[in-house]
Amino acid sequence: MLGLFANIAGAQQTLIQNIQGRKILSLNGRWNYIIDPYEMGYYDYRHDPFDQSASGKGGFYDDRKGKDKTELIEYNFDLSPTLKVPADWNSQADKLEFYEGSIWYRQKFSISPQSGKKYLLYFGAVNYEAHVYLNGKKVGTHKGGFTPFHFDVSQMLNNGENTVVVKADNTRKQDEIPTINTDWWNYGGITRDVYVAELPETYIADYKIQLAKGDLKKIEGFVKLEGPARNQEVTISIPGAGISRTVRPGADGSASFSIPVKKLEYWSPTNPKLYDVSISSGGEKISDKIGFRSIEVRGQDILLNGKSVFLRGISIHDENPLIPGRLRSQGDMRMMLNWAKELNCNYVRLAHYPHNEEMVRLADEMGLLVWAEVPVYWTISWENKDTYQNAEKQLSDLIVRDKNRASVIVWSIGNETPLSEPRYRFMSSLAKHARSLDDTRLVSAALEVHRNDKEVIVNDSLAVNLDLVSFNEYGGWYWGGVPSNLSAYYFNIKYKKPVVITEFGADALAGFHGDENTRWTEEWQEAVYRNQVTFLKKIPGLRGTTPWILTDFRSPRRQHPLYQDFWNRKGLISEQGKKKKAFYELKKFYDEMELKYK
Ligand code: GCU
Repeated sequence: MLGLFANIAGAQQTLIQNIQGRKILSLNGRWNYIIDPYEMGYYDYRHDPFDQSASGKGGFYDDRKGKDKTELIEYNFDLSPTLKVPADWNSQADKLEFYEGSIWYRQKFSISPQSGKKYLLYFGAVNYEAHVYLNGKKVGTHKGGFTPFHFDVSQMLNNGENTVVVKADNTRKQDEIPTINTDWWNYGGITRDVYVAELPETYIADYKIQLAKGDLKKIEGFVKLEGPARNQEVTISIPGAGISRTVRPGADGSASFSIPVKKLEYWSPTNPKLYDVSISSGGEKISDKIGFRSIEVRGQDILLNGKSVFLRGISIHDENPLIPGRLRSQGDMRMMLNWAKELNCNYVRLAHYPHNEEMVRLADEMGLLVWAEVPVYWTISWENKDTYQNAEKQLSDLIVRDKNRASVIVWSIGNETPLSEPRYRFMSSLAKHARSLDDTRLVSAALEVHRNDKEVIVNDSLAVNLDLVSFNEYGGWYWGGVPSNLSAYYFNIKYKKPVVITEFGADALAGFHGDENTRWTEEWQEAVYRNQVTFLKKIPGLRGTTPWILTDFRSPRRQHPLYQDFWNRKGLISEQGKKKKAFYELKKFYDEMELKYK
């Protein structure tokens, strides 16, 4: 089997920054598909991959039609149904709702490749393992369902009609990231945008333009060119701030810069100021919208632009509850973030994996701080080198993709990972890696608590390597009995750092009412929020919360026929968009915190 991220058509040098700012041909739309549970399109009956056979032929990627009626061909894309791209497959056909395995996608497109141009085939995300073919030839593979990837196909394009075929496989496996067990729906398919980008031979591959670490008076960053003339001049200009700087990259195409700033309007949730920024080199000019803010911790305070802030947050999955499936468009995403705004949030935890780039750009625009996370979730294969590589690569791609987003303030390296030495090493390496890529943001993880009678203890040594003490605790649902019992509990938190509660909450079936000691009622959930707020306020270093969760969401682990029916019901909003009583309990707390930290 090829290396983890190998591709035949030339390795993915640098994950391209700001694909939307390029000249792109969208391949979104309806793609023909073939369900392939036995991977007939990939392996021969000896289970040897066709694309590694001498001819490299034989798989569904050949897209054969059959020249005459004697020929035996047991698939046909033209006669096959279609799926929408970008979208998960589970929400598009009843027979695919629970489907886990391989599906082949095919799309045709026309293009006239120009000489002196470079062409990248770009995917926003494919869950989970993608094998990509162009005009019957293997382009490459990618693993990881939530981060972008692209291939250089400049030498593979036809002048005219082209055929791209993708085998997407969302089979869960122990050694992968995430591993086999998650509390979210394993939505499969080409879930985010697909483009062919046309670039100059030498192009601006990547750039970072942000305030220097903890410094409101200096913009620091780098640019990176790819291509033969990679040491040609590059100009960064921010007209709104009176900034224009020209740099000359070295032989490797990269150049860093540090620009003192006189006057700058800083980005914050109350003033989400985005500057028009352009980066130009040779004939190419890219525009972006970038906000400038500093984020740091000092003692038990979190300082945004030097001022202590309380993170009034909510956790969110990348799922539209009204039409179950991955969020499909900016409209869906804006709906979710507007609900967070109605809660008086200034912060969201995008759980448990990188969400769509558009969601993060929307948070920039709407003024919501973001906790971003990689799906190192529950019990991973801590001692498997490939598993670590995979996790580190997903973390790299997340940071590379979103490093210019002012809204993103925390890189989270995982959720509820069990204590052990191999886990400690794995997670500490990830924390170090995140800092090596970006030292201007906080690094953390959602830790777990353990209890000794009424004492709730946080002493996970991983916290030493993190900027926050952030943990999940489910008093009033998974422990503690009825909600009012919480008043008897108290915290013992070992580390003097800002405390951010990454999850607390309870399930409630919207519209099911009773007394607060009856599980599944809105009253139980409301009482959990009321008692949790009192409980959490006892923590001197409390600087934020992201209760679990904004809306009910699909989960294959939730099988109670009446109360759940494959929904996790911890949402403050139901799958019909109905606000539950607890919604208002949390809003009350946030209105109070807003005043306190004004
Ligand atoms: C966990 C986990 C979530 C899960 C939640 C729950 O803490 O992080 O992914 O959905 O608890 O049990 O509802």
